[in-house]
Amino acid sequence: MKATNDMPPLSVFVPATTANLGPGFDCLGLALDLWNRVTIFEEGEGLHVKIRGEGAGLLPADDHNMVVRAMMRFYQAQRVPFPANLSIQCDNRIPVSSGMGSSAAAIVSGLLAANALLGSPASQEEILRLAVAIDGHPDNVASALSGGLTMVTTVGEGLLVNQLPVPPLVVALAVPAIHLPTQVARAALPREVPLSDAVFNIGRTAFVIEALRSGNLAQLGKVMEDRLHQPYRLSLIPGGEEVFNVARQAGAMAVALSGAGPSIIAFAPIEEAVSQAQKIADAMVAAFSQAAIQARGFVLNLSEKGGCVTFRVD
Ligand code: HSE
Repeated sequence: MKATNDMPPLSVFVPATTANLGPGFDCLGLALDLWNRVTIFEEGEGLHVKIRGEGAGLLPADDHNMVVRAMMRFYQAQRVPFPANLSIQCDNRIPVSSGMGSSAAAIVSGLLAANALLGSPASQEEILRLAVAIDGHPDNVASALSGGLTMVTTVGEGLLVNQLPVPPLVVALAVPAIHLPTQVARAALPREVPLSDAVFNIGRTAFVIEALRSGNLAQLGKVMEDRLHQPYRLSLIPGGEEVFNVARQAGAMAVALSGAGPSIIAFAPIEEAVSQAQKIADAMVAAFSQAAIQARGFVLNLSEKGGCVTFRVD
């Protein structure tokens, strides 16, 4: 694809995210240093969508695509007709339906791209509000947009978001090749929980935030348990519980389900973090394999940066 008019092609970069972080169900998110890029060219006639990398051949390459839907939603909110001459190229590195925020990345990419094309009429807050309206849950989209560690909650009709910088931690993820849509993972949750479980999570969530902010992984390991979603969801992931155990045995300081799953995230110790994280990722992949589930391992840094737009002049 090549730009043919005055508007230089724009690229949007949006990071992977891991939501919940154990007890912080629906209110904590953390950006990871793995990025999807969407490049938009205003050219030709009609809409052309090309997908490379993760999800190529699986994700819709038309106006059902999540990036396009988010763009359309933005144009609609601005009461501007959707352009009739767009080529959209998605270079995806975030595994799809994995619990690593691929949908949030697509939505945030589409909204940031549309905002840039229209001359940036919307604030970050308005973009977040639209993203939540599309995604349904604020945790992934908030960290995809802001980067770092985000805490988010609803207050009245609005959202309260706080972004905290994160220390240079390294995480290992195992991404099993099983299909667990977020709706299914949410349908497995009880509608009501005992007060004792709510209290268990509230206290730990406060400590998870402080442990991540300060890089206190020993503390993180003590408080990353959860009673609101993980126990119900792990039963949907063959080998999942064993992967948690194996990650800890391999040296992980803390382990959690990544978002709604099925990926599992483990925090590597600070010393020799990358090699330790690789060892943990390999052990988790091997544990999934023992349960006859193929998995891929990832070793990633955290990202302090969230989604951003660049205009490229080639
Ligand atoms: N907090 C959400 C969940 C993450 O656990 O269902 C997925 O958007």
